[in-house]
Amino acid sequence: MRVIVFASGGGSNFQALLDRFADGQDGVQVAGLVASRETAGAIRRAERAGVPWVVASTAEVSGAEREGAAREGAFLLHALERLEADLIVLAGYLRLIPSEVVRGWWGHIINIHPALLPAFGGRGMYGSRVHEAVVDAGVRVTGVTVHFVDEAYDRGPIIAQWPVPVLDGDTAADVAARVLEIEHELLPRVVGALARGIVTLGEDGRVRWSRPWIDGDRFRVRRAPDRAELGSPPRAGNHHTTGG
Ligand code: GRF
Repeated sequence: MRVIVFASGGGSNFQALLDRFADGQDGVQVAGLVASRETAGAIRRAERAGVPWVVASTAEVSGAEREGAAREGAFLLHALERLEADLIVLAGYLRLIPSEVVRGWWGHIINIHPALLPAFGGRGMYGSRVHEAVVDAGVRVTGVTVHFVDEAYDRGPIIAQWPVPVLDGDTAADVAARVLEIEHELLPRVVGALARGIVTLGEDGRVRWSRPWIDGDRFRVRRAPDRAELGSPPRAGNHHTTGG
């Protein structure tokens, strides 16, 4: 399975795929990189690994919105054909994929997002903004989502999610680092599972795993806490009736 990675940034997820599949495990070959801009750090990683790369030039598509998108779509479709792509992995790609590419490659494009979708996703929710929103919201759990791509940002059938705790005093940078480590673990697992046919997208738009995607029982609650451990719930109006 020839995997083409799309990236705009440093490309650490791209690197995680290069490393995991360096020896062609699961029949996966990381066969190309599409960068949204020439400054993407991912390009250097591609060069080091001897993987071909192209830039989906924004200059070329800066004209009328619709016409531009069409040209960008044609460019990408051509590049994907030339690279003989089987699977497209969006890993920090900050441009919306033109709809003709999404339609033509439906079920063969996946995206990684550094939060538990549908929370903390959508237009403008990328990079540190995601983790800042997580910290601001005070949620105690965030995580990683890998999903099939449809025509909207961060939407489409969810393939796998992995929770990551948010700890007291965490900054957005702390959360980002903890989440990124899990991204590098989850993304290659999903790609490997797709290559082996362990996970599939049905015609009903539902994702099915023929065996559990996560090892062990990390998700299992060992036993329910009993009443005594939970304590009694505070009575409504408690403060007022007791006078403190
Ligand atoms: C990752 O957090 C990914 O989930 C998000 O963009 C970031 C890319 O990081 N979509 P990198 O370029 O792979 O290091």
